[in-house]
Amino acid sequence: MLITNIGELSTNTRAGVLRDAAVLVEDGRIVWVGTAADTPFRADEVVDAGGRAVIPGFVDSHSHIVFGGDRAEEFEARMAGEKYAAGGIRSTVSATRDATDEELGARLRGFIDEMRAQGTTTVEIKSGYGLDVETEERLVRLAAEVTDEVTFLGAHVVPAEYADDPDGYVDLVTGPMLDACAPHARWIDVFCETGAFNVAQSRRVLEAGIARGLAPRVHAGQLGPGDGVRMAVDLGAASVDHGTYLTDDDVAALAASRTVLTLLPGVEFSTRQPYPDARRLIDAGVTVALACDTNPGSSFTSSMPFCIAVAVRDMGMTPGEALWAATAGGAAALRRDDIGIIAPGARADLVLLDATSHVHLSYRPGVPLVRSVWKDGVVV
Ligand code: NIG
Ligand code: FE
Repeated sequence: MLITNIGELSTNTRAGVLRDAAVLVEDGRIVWVGTAADTPFRADEVVDAGGRAVIPGFVDSHSHIVFGGDRAEEFEARMAGEKYAAGGIRSTVSATRDATDEELGARLRGFIDEMRAQGTTTVEIKSGYGLDVETEERLVRLAAEVTDEVTFLGAHVVPAEYADDPDGYVDLVTGPMLDACAPHARWIDVFCETGAFNVAQSRRVLEAGIARGLAPRVHAGQLGPGDGVRMAVDLGAASVDHGTYLTDDDVAALAASRTVLTLLPGVEFSTRQPYPDARRLIDAGVTVALACDTNPGSSFTSSMPFCIAVAVRDMGMTPGEALWAATAGGAAALRRDDIGIIAPGARADLVLLDATSHVHLSYRPGVPLVRSVWKDGVVV
């Protein structure tokens, strides 16, 4: 398949942004990228982009989309002045435990369709609304049916039945729960925050996961500053997510490491928290990703274009930086080099925008600009 007459092609490689470009796809991979006039071959199928922009499919490296129920009332109360706190997670836990696999799976597939329609071609999915061995195993198993990027987040919050024995819960997470979940997962995550897990508990969880062959990623700096970011960097985490509150030491540690800082603009939007300063991070040399954090509590958007628009409007990113963060940045946060770029050898995960430039993603907020999406070279 040849996609030609591309007005603007954002490659995320040294080739930069190409004008009047074309992309050749074979067997789900990109095999050639260049100027349309130089196209050296014929293709079985030719797609005329009509001068529109083509970007890499979005890589949404942080979501919690296997759950039951919703928390519209909590959101409504928050918009009337209530504060967001980690404890709300427990209400989703009861709804999730009560749901059948069929119900959870149908809902999950609905979210995947919703994301695809908005240009997301890779999504990471976390467990974390089961918080008992049986339900956590169900969640990672269901997630593994729709993505390779599954994260075991048994350490999301301490469930009500362990309220008096948080360390006993950490024993469960690092023991039988990890045994049941590790075979379905690639990543281990922990919510290292006041109201969830302290640094010592978080370290235990991550080290147990690492010992089982899972790679670490961490929720930290969402509700206040803490030592979670430095612990994550110390353990070689692929990503620290949230980073709403970061000290200068955190920023320096991130900049000196391979750990990506994944910003989640939907969270600040939906919890009325201050937006983090992406400019400060990028200028310090930190690799920044953008993700939706789709979940029923802190951020119930699944729209990467929405997150890009907020990051540009309120977090000091340029449209080009925000696009990079939502594609190549997400790939870096997942330690993947086959997605997030448009280059020979990469997966043919592509989005054709109904716009002449990627700038329109933030210039035209809330407008459905995704015209076509290819995942592994196939229209979805
Ligand atoms: O990433 N911060 C922890 N977990 C989710 C929120 C989960 C919830 O409120 O249900 C997050 O924001
Ligand atoms: Fe999260």
